[in-house]
Amino acid sequence: MNVLVTGGCGFIGSNLVRHLRAERPDLTVVNLDLLTYAGNLENLRELEGDPGHVFVRGDIGDRELVESLLERHRIDSVLHLAAESHVDRSILGPELFVRTNVLGTQILLEACYRKKVRRFVMVSTDEVYGSLGPTGAFTETSPIQPSSPYSASKASSDLLALAFHHTFGLDVVVTRCSNNYGPYQFPEKLIPLMVVNALHDEALPVYGDGGNVRDWLHVEDHCRALVTVLEQGRAGEVYNIGGGAEQRNLDLVRMLLATLRKPESLIRFVQDRPGHDRRYAIDPAKIRTELGWRPRRTFQQGLEATVRWYVDNPDWWKHVKSGAYRQYYETQYRGRLGG
Ligand code: NAD
Ligand code: TYD
Repeated sequence: MNVLVTGGCGFIGSNLVRHLRAERPDLTVVNLDLLTYAGNLENLRELEGDPGHVFVRGDIGDRELVESLLERHRIDSVLHLAAESHVDRSILGPELFVRTNVLGTQILLEACYRKKVRRFVMVSTDEVYGSLGPTGAFTETSPIQPSSPYSASKASSDLLALAFHHTFGLDVVVTRCSNNYGPYQFPEKLIPLMVVNALHDEALPVYGDGGNVRDWLHVEDHCRALVTVLEQGRAGEVYNIGGGAEQRNLDLVRMLLATLRKPESLIRFVQDRPGHDRRYAIDPAKIRTELGWRPRRTFQQGLEATVRWYVDNPDWWKHVKSGAYRQYYETQYRGRLGG
């Protein structure tokens, strides 16, 4: 059976493709990725030569390509992760977020409906719920109140996916997860950015007072949750996925520095992000009670393993930072890839 993963060369997508090949070897994974700045084929270097992974470079917004791909590979199910994913970039330029996340998702949904895809898993985010006060947690029925252009575009695509279920009967399941961390995360996001800066003894830019709270989820736990939802989720339902690991940014940065044995004097408080959500926290009761999923990693273990990965893989982030990762595609794949 064939599944389509969109955005399979990004952070979560590449972990998911590897996870699927290891845990569901009967599935062939077709990976549609445009290779934007965030898409890195080096993330999947270890799958080179694996006939169960088919990489296709292309845009989810390319209707013809998507339809022919679904048909040619007889795609059974879709796990949709392709997106512009960084809040700060969405503040600098919202248009691409609307084009990729909203319009791209709509084109993909329509193609899946026309080509009779059996199941569509829409990977959304807890950021669609907006910001919490000091207490409480998001449930699946919390109001949708996105704050940033990124979260507004994700809310639009998440609701469009549900609308395709209600209006056209497409089998859609939506997941809303908290902040992921783990290997292969682009070093513009909090954890890899801070680790890489600390390794260079460079300043660590903490936005505002550092009191914003995120609820961290190890990417491997997230991948297991996505497979669970793909296989057991109920059509038309939303499932929140959280790691149960709330941390203030400042505390987290201090933990990273302690793990790396670097001084706290590297911390710099910088101007806050406009519209910065104060706190996210997930109530994962639904996925736990209905589908039996729960995170396996503790935050302490997961964070230490993640820091170790960045320490042990300097070539990966040096290639990303220098832009060399973009040449990898040209040298490794030119002329070897089908559409
Ligand atoms: P990422 O930025 O690391 O990867 C995104 C991938 O999508 C890249 O490989 C990129 O090349 C690809 N892409 C972008 N535009 C495309 C297009 N038009 N067509 C095809 N491919 C395209 O993102 P990530 O952190 O891995 O996040 C994956 C998904 O999970 C996103 O939908 C994101 O909104 C969601 N999510 C992420 C987090 C998180 O903490 N990282 C949390 C909640 C939800
Ligand atoms: P980020 O990794 O961008 O994820 P998101 O904004 O989607 O939650 O940021 C996580 C938190 O870290 C968020 O509160 C913003 C903060 N942050 C910093 O303080 N400094 C930084 O350099 C970055 C990138 C983020």
